[in-house]
Amino acid sequence: EWTMGDYCKTAIAAIREKVGDGKVLLALSGGVDSSVCAGLLAEAIGEQLTCVFVDHGLMRKDEGDEVEEAFGKWTMNFIRVDAEERFLGKLAGISDPETKRKIIGEEFIRVFEEEAKKIGTVDFLAQGTIYPDVIESGHGDAAVIKSHHNVGGLPDYVDFKEIVEPLRQLFKDEVRQLGREVGLPEYLVMRQPFPGPGLAIRVIGDLTKAKLDTLRDADAIFREEIANAGEDKNINQYFAVLTNTRSVGVMGDGRTYDYTLALRGVTTSDFMTADWARIPYDVLDKISVRIVNEVQGINRICYDITSKPPSTIEWE
Ligand code: XMP
Repeated sequence: EWTMGDYCKTAIAAIREKVGDGKVLLALSGGVDSSVCAGLLAEAIGEQLTCVFVDHGLMRKDEGDEVEEAFGKWTMNFIRVDAEERFLGKLAGISDPETKRKIIGEEFIRVFEEEAKKIGTVDFLAQGTIYPDVIESGHGDAAVIKSHHNVGGLPDYVDFKEIVEPLRQLFKDEVRQLGREVGLPEYLVMRQPFPGPGLAIRVIGDLTKAKLDTLRDADAIFREEIANAGEDKNINQYFAVLTNTRSVGVMGDGRTYDYTLALRGVTTSDFMTADWARIPYDVLDKISVRIVNEVQGINRICYDITSKPPSTIEWE
């Protein structure tokens, strides 16, 4: 009988065979595929692996630290590039969604390229390509997300001889299982899809660090309460959006004029179409009360009740 434990051993042996004593470079995003790819390679070749994790400052609350922590148990070269200021500098004053994506994609390449240059020539570039990415007709979530992805195709900006793609035969649920097998924490293995441009496309309009921090705090409460209610298993993707609309409110004896936050939750099998998630009213109520009380700068909360189509999952 076939088990993931056996598959893992075979995959590790195959990587060792292919890589020999060569050096391998991987761009780690913290998403499921690149994380499992990194964990498997770390198990197989340890210090021959270098992972470059570009922290663009557009991740959710504590996410960068969580990713770093998850890989602390391996003796490989883990490079976290703190590029928040660089990215926010480039994005200042930009409110058009596609321009944001373009800037982030280009800046990501530049940062990764700079790190790769420091490392010098590597023998292999590793990629977390999974089976649905490989099959043209594949409409798995990875394939959909790849089609959006900013860094398409083979990177010609890094000096390498060969590609290594140890997840090419696996479906998403198998990738998750393999991730558990190599000892990655559940929060990485079960992570919901997160767009490459991160929170930059969830702050509507122009970005500031203050708006990002506000969104991060609100989003963290939303996710915490969804998990507390056990609804995380029913909803395929859920997140908060900071709109650029302000409205009048009242708090204590004072009038407020603060931002409106939108909550989004969808059920979907392929992310091409999606239905808005029927989150119970009492759960929504608790989330709303907590966010308005705990997060400065938000005085109104809306729940997005449109499906895709005609809406998209993200707001930008
Ligand atoms: P939409 O908003 O188009 O999103 O319904 C479908 C899925 O794709 C994700 N998404 C992105 N992923 N870069 C990515 O890597 C992007 O620019 C991007 N835009 C949307 C979105 O989160 C959803 O899962």
